[in-house]
Amino acid sequence: MRPSADSGRPVVAAGDVVAQVRAVGKTYGSGAAATHALLGIDLELRAGELVALTGPSGSGKSTLLHILGSMDTPSSGRVTVLDQDITSLDDDAASAFRNRHLGFVFQFFHLVPSLTVVENVALPARLAGRPAAAARAQAAELVERVGLADKLHRFPDELSGGERQRCAIARALVNDPVVVLADEPTGNLDHTAGGAVMDLLAELGAERRTAVLVATHDPAVASAADREFALRDGRHDPAGFLVRSDG
Ligand SMILES: Nc1ncnc2c1ncn2[C@@H]1O[C@H](COP(=O)(O)OP(=O)(O)O)[C@@H](O)[C@H]1O
Ligand SMILES: [Mg+2]
Repeated sequence: MRPSADSGRPVVAAGDVVAQVRAVGKTYGSGAAATHALLGIDLELRAGELVALTGPSGSGKSTLLHILGSMDTPSSGRVTVLDQDITSLDDDAASAFRNRHLGFVFQFFHLVPSLTVVENVALPARLAGRPAAAARAQAAELVERVGLADKLHRFPDELSGGERQRCAIARALVNDPVVVLADEPTGNLDHTAGGAVMDLLAELGAERRTAVLVATHDPAVASAADREFALRDGRHDPAGFLVRSDG
């Protein structure tokens, strides 16, 4: 498994380890004001699995997603994606790597308001250098797959919250990433729309052998996952967050 800047996605088999977090710590600030957001985190993500990253507010979920997404660097430890140490990349290399191998889904969608659904989805493919027609064709196929075929040319503000998030999922997948990182993707949706979003992430991740890591504190959301990785005060909590053994 060797990543390269602009060739296609490396071949991964279901169950292959595609991302590794080793002994990762993150401290914000210093001295008396220091916040230990993460301490000694070890996590592996395998192709095609959906992992719920759980824990109460402030437990370190977003910090871990940012570090895995090469948007922030750990204070200690190592993170590899496709055997590439992503903590050693400079800014340009990190953004190229992100665009090529990672997908992101946010609580508040982060769609570009002036672009249509199909244009939003095609954007990461265009940024990766794919010709316009090819990017658009690929985007249209994904838009259809997430159930928005009749809304290709709508703008984000003409969509419901659930539809916006389905559009964001299509965008996250357009470059065929090995890992999708989703931060509270259902946090702004009702139960039904949130369920549809989780079903899509589960189905598409399995189909495309994409590892999906979903931060949530909602048990209904986490129940769609293959497994739970719980955080408590920045440490892994093997007892889990959602199903407490001490009841
Ligand atoms: N940029 C930052 N500067 C200082 N502290 C931060 C920063 N980002 C997060 N934190 C702190 O790190 C801890 C973990 O935060 P976060 O990862 O956002 O948790 P979660 O996503 O689980 O709610 C919290 O105590 C938070 O206040
Ligand atoms: Mg958070």
